[in-house]
Amino acid sequence: MSILRITGGRRLEGTLRVHGAKNSVLPIMAASILARGETIIHNCPDLADVNAAIKILRHLGCSVDKSNDRVIINSAQMTRSDIPHELMKEMRSSVIFLGAILARCGTAALSMPGGCELGPRPVDLHMMALREMGAKITDEGGSILCAANELLGCRINFPIPSVGATENAMLAATACQGTTIITNAACEPEIWDIQRYLRTIGVKVTGAGTSTIIVEGGEISANTEHHVIPDRIVAATYLSCAAASSGKIEITNVIPRHITTVTNALSEMGCRLKIYEDAIGIDATGKLTAIKPVITRPYPGFPTDAQPPLMAASLKASGTTVFIESIFENRYRHIGELLRMGADIKTEGKVAMVTGVSKLFGVPVESTDLRGGAALCVAALGAEGITDVSGLHHIDRGYDGFEAALAAIGADIVRVD
Ligand code: EPZ
Repeated sequence: MSILRITGGRRLEGTLRVHGAKNSVLPIMAASILARGETIIHNCPDLADVNAAIKILRHLGCSVDKSNDRVIINSAQMTRSDIPHELMKEMRSSVIFLGAILARCGTAALSMPGGCELGPRPVDLHMMALREMGAKITDEGGSILCAANELLGCRINFPIPSVGATENAMLAATACQGTTIITNAACEPEIWDIQRYLRTIGVKVTGAGTSTIIVEGGEISANTEHHVIPDRIVAATYLSCAAASSGKIEITNVIPRHITTVTNALSEMGCRLKIYEDAIGIDATGKLTAIKPVITRPYPGFPTDAQPPLMAASLKASGTTVFIESIFENRYRHIGELLRMGADIKTEGKVAMVTGVSKLFGVPVESTDLRGGAALCVAALGAEGITDVSGLHHIDRGYDGFEAALAAIGADIVRVD
C-alpha cells in the first residue's frame, strides 16, 4: 500500500500549473458517445476516474487512445448499451453515461450506482428527468434499465440543482424530438464546458452556466476537438496548500472567476491574492486569522469540494471559523484524522467549528475520500514532523501528479510504496 510521506514546515514557493477539470472531462467523455465520430479531448488529466471512464467507453465498443493529456475517442462503432457492475463500482459517477447511452441507443442498462464516502448519493433526479422525456425506467434489483422508443422534448424543473442530473438531462435531451427546457439547472462551470463541447458536434444548446438550459433535439454525427477547462477544485487545493505552509506561489492555467468564493475566503483569512487573467498569486507569509462562516452551496456559492482543503488551511488561523456543509451528508469524515494531528474542531451535524491552534503534529493518517484526503495533505504541509497519508486511491481519483507538483515548489513530499 503506497503512502505519501510529508515532512511539514517547508514554505511552498514557485509556480504550479492547474490540470484539466475531472468533473468536466468525465461528462464530456460520456457525451462523446453522441458524436458518432471522433472526439479529440485536450488538457485531459491523468486520473483514476478518467481511466475508469475509458474502460467504460471501450466496453461500449468505442475506441479510445490516451497519450499524455490527449484522449482520442471514436464512438462510431459503439456496440453495447450496458455498464456492468464491475465497471460501475470503480466510479459511482459513471451514472453520467446514462443519458448519453439512452440518447444514442434508445436503451441503457447500468448497475445502480451505490453511495460513496460522502453519503447515499441518490439518483432520483436523474430518473425523474429521463422519465419526463418518455423513458421507461425500472430501477430494481440493483440495476437501472431504461428504454425509450422515442424521447420527447419537455420541461424539466429540478427541485434542487443537481450537477449530474442536469448533465444527464442535457445529454438525453439531444435525442428528444423538439425542445427541452431545463429549469433550476445546476450552474457549475463544468456544465458550461459540456455545452461548449455539444455545440462543436452540432447540438443547439443555450443557457448552461445559468439555471435555465434549452436543448434542441436533432441528428448528430461529427468529428470534433475540445480543450477541457481547468480544474477549479485542484486550483483551490493548491491555494490551500500555500496558505497552510505560509507559502508564496502562483498557480497558472486557472479561471479565477470560477473560484471567487475561495479566493475571497483566503483573502479574508489574511492571504494576499493577486488575480490575473489566467493565473492567481497568493502570498500567505503573514499571520492567518479566522473568517466569517463558510457555507457550501451550489455554484456560484462556495463549492462543497473546496470545503475540506480550505478547512485544513484554517487549522492554525487564530480564532474560530464555522463551516456549514449543506450539500453532502457525510463530508466531515476527514475531521477525525485532522483531530489526530492536533486540530481543534467541534462538529454538530452540518456544522464544524474550527479553532486555530499554534501547532499541528505529523502522524499517520488515512484518507477517507477524495477531497478529505487532499485536506490531510494540506494540513501535513503545515504540521511539525512527518505525516504519512494512506488511502491514496482516493486522492489519485482527482489529482494528477499531486506529490510531484507540490515537491516542485518546495514541499518535502514523496510517495512511498
Ligand atoms: C458532482 O457530483 C461532482 N462530481 C461532485 O464532485 C460535487 O461535489 C457535486 O457535483 C456538487 O458540486 C462530478 O461532477 C463527477 P449533485 P453529483 O447531483 O452530480 C442530491 C468531487 O470531489 N441529489 O450536484 O453527484 C445529492 O445527494 C465530487 O470531485 C439528489 O438528491 O452531485 C446532493 O445532496 C464529489 N438526487 C445534491 O443533490 C439526485 O438524483 C447535489 O448533488 C442527485 C443528487
